[in-house]
Amino acid sequence: NIAPVIAIDGPAASGKGTLARRLAAHYGLPWLDTGLLYRAVAVGVLNHGAALDDEPVAVAIARGLPADFADNPALRTGEAGAAASRVAALPGVRAALLDAQRAFAARPGGAVLDGRDIGTVICPDAPAKLFVTASAEARADRRYRELAARDPAASYDRILADIRKRDADDASRAVAPLVPAADAVLLDTTSLDIDGAFASALAIVQRLL
Ligand code: C5P
Repeated sequence: NIAPVIAIDGPAASGKGTLARRLAAHYGLPWLDTGLLYRAVAVGVLNHGAALDDEPVAVAIARGLPADFADNPALRTGEAGAAASRVAALPGVRAALLDAQRAFAARPGGAVLDGRDIGTVICPDAPAKLFVTASAEARADRRYRELAARDPAASYDRILADIRKRDADDASRAVAPLVPAADAVLLDTTSLDIDGAFASALAIVQRLL
């Protein structure tokens, strides 16, 4: 009897967070958005007045993060995401956040985690692993529509450039690069809307659990 651990990885704006939230609600499982941990470390480093590659400061902040911490709109900005990608390349930061993520995944009833390295590093034994992708253009278009509603100065080209940079940085770093686990099922959401993507994800997870 294996606990239902659902590991969801993928690049920025692939829709993995929405799929993770909906799968967690469907199965009544707790959900951890692990990107928020790296975002919280990055914002903490900046608030401390330190540089994003100051590993000792970043590690100290990562060690101080409680396993369950409050979400906060300042963590959700594009700037926080780009800063998160910088601290996420520091091996000491990844090591400091490992135990809290594994403890969350080991909850007796199961859990849903989403990030970049859940299937490869955090939960290599998860019974259900999804790798969610979409073309960079489709992801930029989704982000643009989200942002343009609030910010008339939002630029599609700028968002697309940022997404391409974050993909390249996340895929090329030495520790825990963004790659699908060998046993992950790929879900390409380029031509799916959110309901279509959720239906596909649910069908995959139901087959695996
Ligand atoms: O998913 P999200 O955009 O919130 O992640 C922000 C950044 O945190 C990513 O670009 C990535 O560099 C890093 N991250 C990571 N490992 C995870 C989750 C996020 O390296 N499990």
